[in-house]
Amino acid sequence: MKIIVRVLAIVVLFIHIGDGARILGIVPTPSISHQVVFQPLWRELSLRGHQVTTITTDPIKDPTLTNLTEIDLHFSYEAWNKIIMKNILAFNDNPIRGILGFVEQGLDITDQQLRHPSMQSFLKSEDKFDLAIIESVAPVMIAFAEKFQCPFISMTSMDGFTYLYKSMGNPTHPVLFPDSIYPYYEKMSLAQRLGSVISTNVMSIMIAYSSFSQDQLVKKYFGENYPSVQHLMNNASLLFVNSDPILHKIRPLVPTVVQIGGGSHLRKPKPLPHDLKEKLDNEKNGFIYFSLGSNVKSKDIPMETRTTILETFSELPYTVLWKFEAENLSNKPDNVIISKWLPQQDVLRHPNIKLFITQGGLQSSDETIHIGVPIVGMPFFGDQAANIKRMVAKGMGLSVEYTALEKNDFKAKILEIIQNPKYRNRVKELAALAQDQPMTGLERAIWWSEYVIRHKGAAHLRSPLLDIPWYQYLLLDVIAVLLFGFTFSTYILYILVRSLLRLIRRNLNDNEKKLK
Ligand SMILES: *[C@@H]1O[C@H](CO)[C@@H](O)[C@H](O)[C@H]1NC(C)=O
Ligand SMILES: *[C@@H]1O[C@H](CO)[C@@H](O)[C@H](O)[C@H]1NC(C)=O
Ligand SMILES: *[C@@H]1O[C@H](CO)[C@@H](O)[C@H](O)[C@H]1NC(C)=O
Repeated sequence: MKIIVRVLAIVVLFIHIGDGARILGIVPTPSISHQVVFQPLWRELSLRGHQVTTITTDPIKDPTLTNLTEIDLHFSYEAWNKIIMKNILAFNDNPIRGILGFVEQGLDITDQQLRHPSMQSFLKSEDKFDLAIIESVAPVMIAFAEKFQCPFISMTSMDGFTYLYKSMGNPTHPVLFPDSIYPYYEKMSLAQRLGSVISTNVMSIMIAYSSFSQDQLVKKYFGENYPSVQHLMNNASLLFVNSDPILHKIRPLVPTVVQIGGGSHLRKPKPLPHDLKEKLDNEKNGFIYFSLGSNVKSKDIPMETRTTILETFSELPYTVLWKFEAENLSNKPDNVIISKWLPQQDVLRHPNIKLFITQGGLQSSDETIHIGVPIVGMPFFGDQAANIKRMVAKGMGLSVEYTALEKNDFKAKILEIIQNPKYRNRVKELAALAQDQPMTGLERAIWWSEYVIRHKGAAHLRSPLLDIPWYQYLLLDVIAVLLFGFTFSTYILYILVRSLLRLIRRNLNDNEKKLK
């Protein structure tokens, strides 16, 4: 049955192979975890006969994709790598400072990108586009949609922040749906709810603050007569969020918010490199895979943490495969294999894998759910803590804190996950749920992109929330009228009762006088 649904979905997808459109894709964040989410989309759109131009820090560089033109901004990694670990470690002391670091230095990188000769010539081009798909973390880039006068889709490689949902007129709620950087709680205490309200508002203030500088950049590179970035952002036809109902919380969505998550970046299995495959095949006892993703560099984590990790690993009866970005790791135990890069999806698919120790980035989380490997989480920054807490709450594993890592605790958790089958069984259940859907995230993204092209936008789906003032949405005027009505009628009642009592008293007094 599942197969039939799948085939039907694909047939439906291919009914419209109409004329190729011209599509502009902009993903300016120099982080591979942001890029991998959208690479399959560029590939698929170009294979469907559209002329796709992307501005990206990680071009696919596949010569068989003849309809894909890529403007390469790979140089941005140099600036990004200089700041990333500093901001990640600052995040732990003070999330606001960590985020502000990303916001400010992100602007700097956008400036460098727009100054680059390839972008300068693109800015002068007379190209025409039918659709732009733009990563929303760099809102300056939305000015391209205005320049080319085409509808655009806003997208994010994570779940959307509250301000993004708001920009689409999607209902938000700081207690039910805290921002993805706020740690996830199954049930929030009063202090946690207060924290979520404050953090959501601090985030809004930071976004408003950065929008001044964004507007300056638009003026500098695009021209004077551009609407504000905030205004442009509210004009998005759709918002693609990289979330799904299995890993993320169930929430009401307006039709202009499309969930494309749930492993849309997963690719077909590929054989592992020969020597790696041989090593892992021999681990009949099972092996552990340890990676902190692409942004957190294992080689730069605090020395104390690294020492505890190595001591823990040395006491394990399993081999540990560690994605470690330097040549050498001093005091490396014999059961630890390091490698600068590993084909993560294929390592996770290896039948001998027992456990994934992960920082809990969204892509890694999606992969481990879809492939069905239990975890020990070690979050560092951004949405990682929330992702890990959700996975722990779902019974997929356990977590540790890298700032307070303790050998016996870490070791006990690793052994518990490997030796107690309940975690693995639970992940398998979740994998089955995650895969059982009528369309994959990628198929949804393609269908909706072509929908926006066919109808030149999606203004007819625009949320009515965008067109009423906030005080009306919050019922402030209604509450005011009700309060006034209530106070007024209580007052009238009071006057009436008082007059009545006076009347009665007077009558009583008169009667008394008469009696005297
Ligand atoms: C490129 O697009 C054309 C239609 O514009 C299509 O016929 C062709 O198959 C596409 N080629 C590739 C390699 O995607
Ligand atoms: C909003 O987007 C539409 C296309 O969807 C475009 O025609 C219009 O000019 C845009 N308005 C502003 C103010 O950017
Ligand atoms: C790593 O260790 C090997 C042998 O111990 C040595 O030859 C090499 O220079 C080291 N590399 C670095 C980057 O330290």
